[in-house]
Amino acid sequence: MVKARIIATGSYVPEKVLTNHDLEKMVDTSDEWITERSGIKERRIAAKGQTASDLACEASKAALKQAGLKGGDIDMIIVATVSGDMPFPSTACLLQKRLDAKKAAGFDVNAACSGFLYALSVGESFIKSGAHKRVLVVGTEVLSKFVDWEDRTTCVLFGDGAGAVVLEAATGDSGILSTHLHSDGNLWELLNIPGGGSKNPPSKDTVKEGLHCIKMKGNETFKVAVRTLEALATETLKHNKLKPAQLTAFIPHQANLRIIKATAERLSLPMDKVVVNLDRYGNTSAASIPIALDEAVRTGRIRTGDYVLLEAFGGGLTWASALIRW
Ligand code: UT7
Repeated sequence: MVKARIIATGSYVPEKVLTNHDLEKMVDTSDEWITERSGIKERRIAAKGQTASDLACEASKAALKQAGLKGGDIDMIIVATVSGDMPFPSTACLLQKRLDAKKAAGFDVNAACSGFLYALSVGESFIKSGAHKRVLVVGTEVLSKFVDWEDRTTCVLFGDGAGAVVLEAATGDSGILSTHLHSDGNLWELLNIPGGGSKNPPSKDTVKEGLHCIKMKGNETFKVAVRTLEALATETLKHNKLKPAQLTAFIPHQANLRIIKATAERLSLPMDKVVVNLDRYGNTSAASIPIALDEAVRTGRIRTGDYVLLEAFGGGLTWASALIRW
């Protein structure tokens, strides 16, 4: 049976580093509070004018280079983002132009922090159906441009970056074994950007009221996340008849170290199997999993035959997972 296999990964983060100590000078916060409550020490911030497609382009070029492919070899580009260059065209189309991926169809997926896993699942389906041979799946975010830099409850959490994978049809043991997607729109108010869409079209008032910035009920979101992520991991492992101990690596969305640790603990997974990089990048939303995956691959933490669990949670609310045999 045909599977979709990740044959290459790539990632990119902007050069500018914003530390917790830098934030102490901007809002009423402290390195101690941010570290204790979230685990984040620093994050990357896109330069003025640097866009989601700019970051996506660097990550995609790295993935294509690792795969030994050119843009022209790609059949489809799926970009997960909630901070795309503009409402339309899609960031995927802008990326297609930059990669000279002439034969590719391109579109964006909006599932907030779960976006990459939603996009991966869509890409997997196109490959399994036989419609496409090679799909580029990207998560890219420049949430620093949608953060209220005077709101200490959100501005300390987010960062910018991009990650990409190349999916290819494969028939061996390696590949994506299953993906699991969920959402609950009843909880949309926990995490959103209320302005700029047809509900609150851009106006002087929406700008004045800060409606174009991220709003999050952090504490409530936290509680749902811990509950949901354990259940999702259990569902995913059970579907594949695997036990947590059989996992080589667990790559969770990098939102909060306490959420990650709570999930690992509930699964009885030792933290040395959990890939964590939020101390360096903060929450990069749809980019967090592909960046962490790329780092894990490039540092040799994941090898052929390993079972790897990816899991995310975010605005929508949405949550999603993927079980991969590397
Ligand atoms: O990526 C998508 C999904 N997102 C998530 O999963 C994020 C989930 N939520 C979280 O990560 C955590 O809820 C936060 C890190 C956002 C906040 O941690 P918390 O332990 O839930 O804190 P809290 O919101 O309950 O706030 C505790 C206190 C409050 O003060 P009072 O009311 O107790 O006096 C806040 O005003 O901490 C205060 N506070 C801060 N203090 C210093 C909030 N933000 C800050 C800050 N610096 N940056």
